[in-house]
Amino acid sequence: MTMNDADKSTERQALRAPRGTRDVISPEVERWQAVEGAARSTFARYGFREMRTPIFEDSNVFEKGTGESSDIVQKEMYRFRDLGGHDLTLRPEGTPPVVRAYLEHNLGQSRDVARFYYIGPMFRYERPQKGRYRQFHQIGAEAFGSESAAVDAEVIDMAMTWLTDLGVGPLSLQVNSVGDHDDRPAYLRKLTAAQADLLGEMSEESRKRHEINPLRVFDSKDPRDHAVIEKLPTIIDHLSDENRAHFDEVCGYLSDWGVEHTVEPRLVRGLDYYRRTVFEITSSALGAQDALLGGGRYDGLVAEMGGEDVPGVGFAAGLERIVLALPETEAAASIDCYVVTVARDLGPHALHLMRDLRATGLRCTADFQGRSMKAQMKAANRSGAPAVAILGPDELAKGVCTVKWMESGEQREVSLDGLADDLGAALVGRQNS
Ligand code: HAM
Repeated sequence: MTMNDADKSTERQALRAPRGTRDVISPEVERWQAVEGAARSTFARYGFREMRTPIFEDSNVFEKGTGESSDIVQKEMYRFRDLGGHDLTLRPEGTPPVVRAYLEHNLGQSRDVARFYYIGPMFRYERPQKGRYRQFHQIGAEAFGSESAAVDAEVIDMAMTWLTDLGVGPLSLQVNSVGDHDDRPAYLRKLTAAQADLLGEMSEESRKRHEINPLRVFDSKDPRDHAVIEKLPTIIDHLSDENRAHFDEVCGYLSDWGVEHTVEPRLVRGLDYYRRTVFEITSSALGAQDALLGGGRYDGLVAEMGGEDVPGVGFAAGLERIVLALPETEAAASIDCYVVTVARDLGPHALHLMRDLRATGLRCTADFQGRSMKAQMKAANRSGAPAVAILGPDELAKGVCTVKWMESGEQREVSLDGLADDLGAALVGRQNS
């Protein structure tokens, strides 16, 4: 390899997207837009408003919020010092930033239940695989201010409605309660004691978790831990009466509404802040990374991050995973009409015509490279536009153009003045047929 070749190959490597990140290009990007659009409209029906927070925060937002014992804080944060020496982290999840913003802007002042949703990129230094990325995107929702089981059930219902209406399937909803300060300390003592007897059978990772946060042993995917996990006491069997009643009420609402769910006593979720209800939605259309969405109640978090004792509950879904789980559909055309000119000097006329068409809401484009008509027709075909308007000098002189419908091959002259109406009517007709 010459020096030159080596240089070129480094250059080529340098120009790839970083490991664990991806570009989202049409037609995939239209699927993302459909998922986002459905979220916006479903969440609005439940009274949620959008919140946009910065992509990086002071690192202590996540240390305090996500929690020191979580994998995220322990080993997955994109943490850096900026040129001013500030300790910052690219957000690995959306909940702590929303809590930070809720406190910073005093959004709890009225004591009304405050409901927010967010859509945006998150960053975790994980081992990339299908459905798991280092930059991924979450659509999440958080509701602050009510302890009522009705709000837990409502956010779960909202998540299920959104995913079901989108056509993601088949879905499976697992729910559990992880208790709170009432019942958790006694349960944790019991759990730790049970784990201590089984340490010899546990994976190294689980032995570490046993030290830091024994609940997280339930999260282990290591086959060696399966038998151990089966033998451990579960929190759901050790709930206080109050927490048991809260959980039963959540499940009661879901059953009443026909939202199918399974109680999964070993579902604990990997973040430190959860109290009482936790839930996860998985899809069998995905492989190993089958969790589409996860969430739960986090009643201590707002106080932990410096606010009053405000309860909260929410969820976040992985946008990439939802798109992976969606059934393939034919991409809708993104252009209604492609304008082709017979001679190069007709460019200004094409521009003028397209401005008129666009003013009526039609989507149109043209080639503008001075290529042959044949090349332009091929480009029109590739664009997927259902109609092509062909402008030639003779037609222009008569104030008309030729419209060709690509699917049928049908071709006829249409007056330039009436073109927008004509195309509009024909396109509506096609949509309805
Ligand atoms: P989480 O379970 O860490 O929860 O993430 C939620 C969802 O984000 C997952 O179910 C998955 O679909 C997606 N996700 C997570 N990591 C990745 C990754 N590396 N690549 C692709 N997708 C990923 C939270 O983040 C909590 N903040 C949820 C929450 C909100 N709980 C209460 N409110």
